[in-house]
Amino acid sequence: TVADLKGMKQGKLRLAVITTTKYFMPRLLGPFCQKYPGVDVSLIVTNHERVIDRLSNNQDDLYVMSQIPENVDVKSHAVLENPLVVVAPLHHPLAKEKNISLKRLVEEPFIMREPGSGTRRAFQQLLDAHKLSVKVRLELGSNEAIKQAIAGGLGLSVLSRHTLLTDNSEVTVLDVEEFPIERYWYAVYLSSKQLSVIASTFLDYLQTAAAELAEGYGLKGGEWLKQLQD
Ligand code: PGA
Repeated sequence: TVADLKGMKQGKLRLAVITTTKYFMPRLLGPFCQKYPGVDVSLIVTNHERVIDRLSNNQDDLYVMSQIPENVDVKSHAVLENPLVVVAPLHHPLAKEKNISLKRLVEEPFIMREPGSGTRRAFQQLLDAHKLSVKVRLELGSNEAIKQAIAGGLGLSVLSRHTLLTDNSEVTVLDVEEFPIERYWYAVYLSSKQLSVIASTFLDYLQTAAAELAEGYGLKGGEWLKQLQD
């Protein structure tokens, strides 16, 4: 309707997304904002737990996260793969080995994200399932800082492969059993919430743009990310 179109020209789009999406979301926002210059966007980039808090409190229009909450009634749409991989310094002794066992892996010191991180939680779930634990040498609240710490030789970490799209020359991905941990980013919103015209337009755009981005590399599934990194 005319009112919808008018509504589309002006307004606010509030997004809250998990940390790993910062490698794509700001970029994907570019063309959207060019097309709808009257739309003001606020993008909160934070960890899984805080995104869930914001969702529960209905603070934003749309959320992007990897683990859909079970105790909140939401609608969700898969956006893009978000595989988790084991990252090591480039010249680590395990770098040339194939199919490294989890048992061997946990002999190495680890750098962990902060409690509340979905990345950390996914790795912890894998360890729990195998009744293993790791020696945590350092806890850090930033994927980028963890990459630097890995390069500095402080230990290994489990990170989203997306975090390796920038500045990955000093680190490498280890070939470990049970990895990559396959995950997706989902666009999520409260079922009780009527999406604004702006938010639903953005949701359509996000799904199309993410699919194009993946397809653009001519590869299916997580392969395109792997390719990018090699
Ligand atoms: P995180 O989010 O920043 O909470 O680790 C990443 C994820 O859940 O995939």
